[in-house]
Amino acid sequence: MEIIHVSAECYPVAKAGGLGDVVGALPKYQTAMGHYAKVVMPMYRTKFLYQNDWAIDFKGNATMGDRYFEYTVIKEKTNKLGFDLYLVDINGLLDREKVYGYSDDTERFLAFQIAVVDWLSHWEHHPDIIHCHDHQAGLIPFMVKYCYDYNKLASIPTVFTIHNGQYQGWMGWDKSHLIPRWDNWKSGLLEWKKNINPLASAVKNAWKVTTVSHSYLEELRYNSNGLEALFEYEKGKCVGILNGIDADVWNPETDTYLKDHFTVETVAEGKAASKKLLCQQFNLDENKALIIFIGRLVGEKAADLLPDAILSSMYALNNGVNFLILGSGDPHVEWQLKQLAGQYQGNYNVVIGYNETLSHLMYAGADFLLMPSRVEPCGLNQMYAMQYGTVPIVRNTGGLRDTVVDMGDWQGWGIRFNHASVGDITHGITRAAGLFDHGQTHFGWMRQRMMEIDNSWENAVQQYINVYTSLK
Ligand code: ADP
Ligand code: GLC
Repeated sequence: MEIIHVSAECYPVAKAGGLGDVVGALPKYQTAMGHYAKVVMPMYRTKFLYQNDWAIDFKGNATMGDRYFEYTVIKEKTNKLGFDLYLVDINGLLDREKVYGYSDDTERFLAFQIAVVDWLSHWEHHPDIIHCHDHQAGLIPFMVKYCYDYNKLASIPTVFTIHNGQYQGWMGWDKSHLIPRWDNWKSGLLEWKKNINPLASAVKNAWKVTTVSHSYLEELRYNSNGLEALFEYEKGKCVGILNGIDADVWNPETDTYLKDHFTVETVAEGKAASKKLLCQQFNLDENKALIIFIGRLVGEKAADLLPDAILSSMYALNNGVNFLILGSGDPHVEWQLKQLAGQYQGNYNVVIGYNETLSHLMYAGADFLLMPSRVEPCGLNQMYAMQYGTVPIVRNTGGLRDTVVDMGDWQGWGIRFNHASVGDITHGITRAAGLFDHGQTHFGWMRQRMMEIDNSWENAVQQYINVYTSLK
């Protein structure tokens, strides 16, 4: 099958979170399994762009409201990522360094989507599937069905994957003129609660909707930032498919970001070597359990609870553990986390920012990874942690619930708690410290147990192919 993925992120071209990881991996594994998968994304000005060779694939033009724009689609020449990669350049809109966070993001991603459908309408053949990811590609299922200029694409099945239902791309009706002319009778298919809502529109218009874990699919029906009734109504076309992890990038035996590699057999020594590096670099105590947090410092990840949870755990455990935090986001949380560094020198440190290399060393060298998320559609961090023998301490929600079994349960290897609260997090950390200090044999068994879990992409790829074939 020929599948074209449309996404705002794709690792290693541009990544802000797990969406990038998934779109960098899924098409590669689809291609490896005999399909023809392609990715199209915006041409941001990232390092990857300048370090690789490109050929011009297409030049076109389109309009967004009364704004006429030209766009260029370039293609990576060497199949470096294991699939065909296309970037869309639109001067003045997509030629920026960052993926998100600009005041004109609505116009940027709308122009991107218009360019993509316009480009597709110039292909001599039709792909078998258009697979759109998150709200930045959420208007495409509507546009191919109901925008007059793109009618010839209407018969191509569209699949929409929700990686994060919290962000929906809302825009007021005052911006409706930016969408290419459409059949007015269909306006309701753009709308949710009196706004144009690209995520809701995608759920209404895509032929099939998937999300990235079974538990999250269930949760969307009672907790989806206003779309609960929609998910209840559309449940028949929604499927949960758990993400995999890319073994070419996330494997402690071959990880190119690491100096000290290890396998299930050598996990103890391998992790000790990485822990030593981390402790030296960040002034931490090697003999104490090292607990890390990596991620966006936002409410969804319950990052606002981290400062108090760290204080409370340090107090409960008499400074008996180390914390190392890597992330950026809410400026107040960033500030609070930086403040703690003075208070707990030798047991705590924080790096504000985004650092791919450091994140790999942290997964490898830590003893525990904390993820108290309020909402977690799938969560890749806990899967990476498990692959690197790092025990996950997670809240019982979404993909975390589907991938981590508590050590109190049969054959369990993780620590789970129920509430995103300082009390529950502290309790989880206390259990972790107890295990580290008094249960090293069981701790060693848990590490090996989780490293043997198969979270590879092959299984998920087959489930996506089943979804696609159900639409033929
Ligand atoms: P989300 O996509 O909601 O942020 P995921 O768990 O699916 O959460 O994926 C997060 C991805 O982003 C992981 O690959 C994680 O290692 C990475 N990541 C998040 N924050 C940082 C950071 N500050 N530095 C490096 N990598 C990060
Ligand atoms: C989103 C979710 C995260 C998921 C990722 C990849 O960013 O927040 O839970 O793992 O997408 O699907």
